[in-house]
Amino acid sequence: MLILGIETSCDETAAAVVADGRTILSQVTLSQDLHKLYGGVVPELASREHTRTLVPVVREAIAQAEITYDDVEGIAVTNGPGLVGALLVGLSFAKALSYSLNKPLVGINHLEAHIFSVLLEHPELVPPFLCLIISGGHSNLYSVESLGRYRSVGSTRDDAAGEAFDKVAKLLGLGYPGGPAIDLIAKSGDRGFIKFPKAKMKSGGYDFSFSGLKTAVAIYVSKLEEKELEGRRADIAASFQEAVGGALLDNTIAAAEEHRMARIAVCGGVASNSRLRERLKAFSETHGLEVFYPSLELCTDNAAMVAAAGNFRLENFPPDDLELDAFPYLELGV
Ligand code: KG4
Ligand code: ZN
Repeated sequence: MLILGIETSCDETAAAVVADGRTILSQVTLSQDLHKLYGGVVPELASREHTRTLVPVVREAIAQAEITYDDVEGIAVTNGPGLVGALLVGLSFAKALSYSLNKPLVGINHLEAHIFSVLLEHPELVPPFLCLIISGGHSNLYSVESLGRYRSVGSTRDDAAGEAFDKVAKLLGLGYPGGPAIDLIAKSGDRGFIKFPKAKMKSGGYDFSFSGLKTAVAIYVSKLEEKELEGRRADIAASFQEAVGGALLDNTIAAAEEHRMARIAVCGGVASNSRLRERLKAFSETHGLEVFYPSLELCTDNAAMVAAAGNFRLENFPPDDLELDAFPYLELGV
């Protein structure tokens, strides 16, 4: 099946054509640069930018795939979770396209799409497996029991992992988005320079919390003179990155052990973090775990993963109708 995927849940305007949930025929992702000015995503500006760029982005995806609109056999669009105004731009466009072309429409949960970003490139990855989704908006741990059956085993109590990277980068004067900047500068830093605290959850379970860590960095930075910060920026970045990675690893590995999972998928923007990958690799080799990642361009938000999830949904469930709505807090699984 040829599926056109559309993604506008946050600050990426994206469209892609995927064949049979496996082969990417085209993938166009436009990251909105204008938010850099504000150090974070401004929801209203994101919606307006999607409105301005979505039509040319979809046109480009169709052209790059060397197909016509008539060849499309289904339209998959993210309908939550995300920024409601941004979601509505993609959803309204997808509905109009579905109506005018008379092609089936399916709404996709953005988190399920992230899970499909790993499945798309790894046909050998079959459930059950554990999936860690770490991005600017999410830190979620799911047990994927079978395709379409997800059990939430952990989520963030406050900031998402990527959000913590972005906020700490801002404190360190590293710009936005912060993850790639911290990843880079941390390579020349001493990761043992400061032992930042690790959040402990009273209730047990595998939830994450990063706001205490962010505050600890803020307090540390506030005590430094500008010159001292200059000299210690890489060390602070490396120490912070080590603490975030430690929390992510500890929970993921403990959950994998409890649920007896030998396979772990890691996706979302933060999955491109080089130190996290290095640590997971070392751990998996000594503990006989298999770890799967999407390629770097599928780690960040994209529409190929939406199309791949759409292929699965349209093959196994009835399509949605034009009443389909956007849900900013849409949850996945149980
Ligand atoms: O998946 P994504 O593109 O968008 C959301 O759904 O949020 O993730 C973006 C997030 C940003 O917070 C960014 O700072 C973070 O992913 N990120 C990274 C790295 N590359 C992107 N965080 C840590 N290390 C990286 N190399
Ligand atoms: Zn995402």
